[in-house]
Amino acid sequence: EGTKNGMKVRDGIFLPNGVRNLSYSKCFKLRDDDIFVSSFPKSGTTWTNELVWLITHNLDYEGSQNNLEKKIIWLDPGIPTNVIDDADSPRLFKNHLPLQFLPDDIRTEKIKKIYVLRNPKDMLVSTFHFYRKLVKDEFIGEFKDLVNLFEEGKTWYGPWWSHVDSFVELPNTFIIVYEDLIKKPFETIKCLGEFLGKKLSDSQVQFLIECTSFKKMKEGESKFKSDAKHSNFFKSDLVFFRKGEIGDWKNYFDEENSRKVDAVVEKKLKFKINFIYEN
Ligand code: A3P
Repeated sequence: EGTKNGMKVRDGIFLPNGVRNLSYSKCFKLRDDDIFVSSFPKSGTTWTNELVWLITHNLDYEGSQNNLEKKIIWLDPGIPTNVIDDADSPRLFKNHLPLQFLPDDIRTEKIKKIYVLRNPKDMLVSTFHFYRKLVKDEFIGEFKDLVNLFEEGKTWYGPWWSHVDSFVELPNTFIIVYEDLIKKPFETIKCLGEFLGKKLSDSQVQFLIECTSFKKMKEGESKFKSDAKHSNFFKSDLVFFRKGEIGDWKNYFDEENSRKVDAVVEKKLKFKINFIYEN
């Protein structure tokens, strides 16, 4: 364990300073009905969490408007085991932590896992805006510097390719693709519901699409910002719901940088998927 570029490094993984007490994250006891939502940051985690929470709580939109962070156990900051043990079932966990920092039993068939995946170019643009709003470790480089860090596997929780590869191959994992949620929300949410053991009617799916729309979630932005932890980490002008689109990368990438990311996808990522880069 050590620090580098103002970040924590543990087992070769670059972690935000706010991530600590990793012994907790590794050692708690899983229940058969636990659900994990895992992702590389800026891939659509918040959107997916909202959907998963609603689907597992009878589409209780009013209830979802209370602070989401309290209802989904975010493992990264190091939650004491008694808090985890006392939580009601089914427990929902969220993590960006790489697989090796989670309990070994997550690898078993019986635990449901959802992995959120987004095309890496848009994910990097989103990351760029996010890193620039950090209180500590503010990113002051140019966009191309971030692409270089990505290529070297040195963005938070990186390398991205091993993060993706380790989660997508786990049994009982539903891969939710950000671009699918945008382009074919109906089908995608219906499948997510089935994975979670809920047969959603067409009107229920429609309801979910509406109450998790970018516009609707952006209206509730203050609930994410009101969290006290938030102000320690982020500047007040952070825009959490920024654009919510496919293809913003074209405003940031030149050809060389675009090729660098393509090469990472081709050569380093083992998982074969055709990322959607166009709206
Ligand atoms: P942009 O910065 O490209 O707008 P995460 O939740 O993993 O941090 O991901 C954040 C990204 O998801 C941001 O992308 C954010 O705007 C987008 N996002 C969040 N909620 C969304 C929604 N309901 N619809 C579309 N995009 C959403």
